[in-house]
Formats: sequence, C-alpha cells, structure tokens
Amino acid sequence: MTNHEILLQASNLRKNYHRGGGAFAQSSERDQFKAVDDVSFQITAGETFAIVGESGCGKTTLARMLLRLVEPDGGKIIFQGRELTALSSAEMRAERRQLQMVFQDPYASLNPRMRVSEIVAEPLAIHEPKLSSIERRERTSAMLRRVGLNEESAARYPHEFSGGQRQRIGIARALILRPKLVVADEPVSALDVSVGAQMLVLLQELQQEFGLTYLLISHSLPVVAQVATRIAVMRAGKFVELGEAEQVLSHPQHVYTKELLAAVPELPAASA
Ligand SMILES: Nc1ncnc2c1ncn2[C@@H]1O[C@H](COP(=O)(O)OP(=O)(O)O)[C@@H](O)[C@H]1O
Ligand SMILES: [Mg+2]
Repeated sequence: MTNHEILLQASNLRKNYHRGGGAFAQSSERDQFKAVDDVSFQITAGETFAIVGESGCGKTTLARMLLRLVEPDGGKIIFQGRELTALSSAEMRAERRQLQMVFQDPYASLNPRMRVSEIVAEPLAIHEPKLSSIERRERTSAMLRRVGLNEESAARYPHEFSGGQRQRIGIARALILRPKLVVADEPVSALDVSVGAQMLVLLQELQQEFGLTYLLISHSLPVVAQVATRIAVMRAGKFVELGEAEQVLSHPQHVYTKELLAAVPELPAASA
C-alpha cells in the first residue's frame, strides 16, 4: 500500500492559548502557553502515523490545526502539494472532502436530531450536490453495511445505538466521500477495550480497502502499538521522539518514551 508519496507535510506548527485568566485577563506574552510548540512531521501515503501522549499535551489542538478547525499561530501545512494554510475558508471547506476526522466521543459528534442515513449522507449532500437521491441512498447504505450496521439502522437515531455502533456511524460519515487522509482523534478511548480493539481492526480493513492514510491520536500506547506504522511521542506541545513503530516500541530513545512503555507491562518492550 505504501508508495512513499508524501501526503501531508506540517512544518513548525504553533498554537498558543491564554493561561487561565478570565474575561479581564490582560493579554501579554507571559499569559500565553504553548499548546503546540514548533511541531514538524510528514505523513506518507498509506501509513498509519500515530501521535501518543498524555492528556493535555496538545494532540487535539494539533489534529484540529491540520484541518484548520483551529487556526495555527505559526507554521505551514502542505497537503497533496497544496498549502492549506494559504487557502481561503471556502477553498479549505472544499479541501476537507479529502481530509476527514473521526472524533473521540461518538455521541457528542453526531447530531441527535438526524437519522443515521442523514448523518452519513450529509457530506455527500454538501460536496456532491448533483448526486441523485437514489445514488445518495445507495452509497449511504453500502457504507453503513461496510462498517457493520444493518439496513434498519438507516432510519434510526444516534441514541438508539451503543457506543461502538455510534463510532461506526461516525466512521461511515467520515469515509463516505472517500477521503485521502483520516484524522482519528482518540477513536476508541470512549469504548470498552474489546470493542475498541474490534474498531481498530475495522479501521485497518477499511484502510486496505479504500487506500486510506491515517493519523491516529491516542493517549494509550497499547492502542497505538496495535496499528501504528510510525509513532510520534508528544509531551507538553512538542514531539520528543518520532520513528518507526517497532523502533520506538522496542528501542525507545527518549526517557519520556521509556516511562510511557514502563507503565504498560503488557507490551513486550516494557521490560527492555
Ligand atoms: N480553546 C482553548 N482555549 C484555551 N486552552 C485550550 C483550548 N483548547 C485546548 N486548550 C489547552 O491546551 C492544552 C492542550 O489541549 P489538547 O490539545 O486538547 O490536548 P490533548 O488532546 O493532548 O489532551 C491543554 O492545556 C488545554 O487545556
Ligand atoms: Mg484530545
């Protein structure tokens, strides 16, 4: 699958937020903290690039910057040769059909008032308005079947489903436009371990089938170890280590990576 084509290149990405500070806080340099601090990396077509790090280290901010759902304070993003950071918001919206996100909380990310068929078909309605309603329905039910949901799911509402099924709905919605890159931000952290493991298997099958490239974000090293081809270890807004998954898991270089590994005895590398 991997053909060594660079799909996305992020250079020197930065995002600062105000520290604490209510409505009357004065804005000055020292009131800012660096949520993402000079992060650079490339994602190659076909790979699963994983970012692992503890809660609050800046993973979600970084992920959302790649889609410009959060505006970077500095740095550059080039996706398929286009500089995303230079696009107008209309151009960026058009580009998002190639760049989709799967969210952590499968319930909060689905509109409770929409039927599953509408949720999954909505991106088609936006990006392919000329599609006939029959075609739209066919593509929607094919995608629902593919993620393991039956025919009757289409007419139901998100609250009628389990967490794992809701995440399948979110995945169907993210994939309906056949994106190139899928950014999955903690896709299994709201799920039981066994349900989460199944979800990761499904994501891997879909990757093969649709030729997808993944950016997978997780605070969990076992999750990352299950699917990553390369791993970046993030701490306090920075990447402290980046390498081939096997290398990072079996020969960690940074002391922080060693600490993360030591905390998960079930991973074979932990004893190293
Ligand atoms: N919109 C925001 N305004 C202010 N601070 C934020 C905002 N979003 C995130 N933060 C802070 O930035 C840091 C990184 O957050 P986040 O990117 O969500 O980390 P992670 O996904 O790794 O848990 C945290 O300290 C968080 O509280
Ligand atoms: Mg997060």
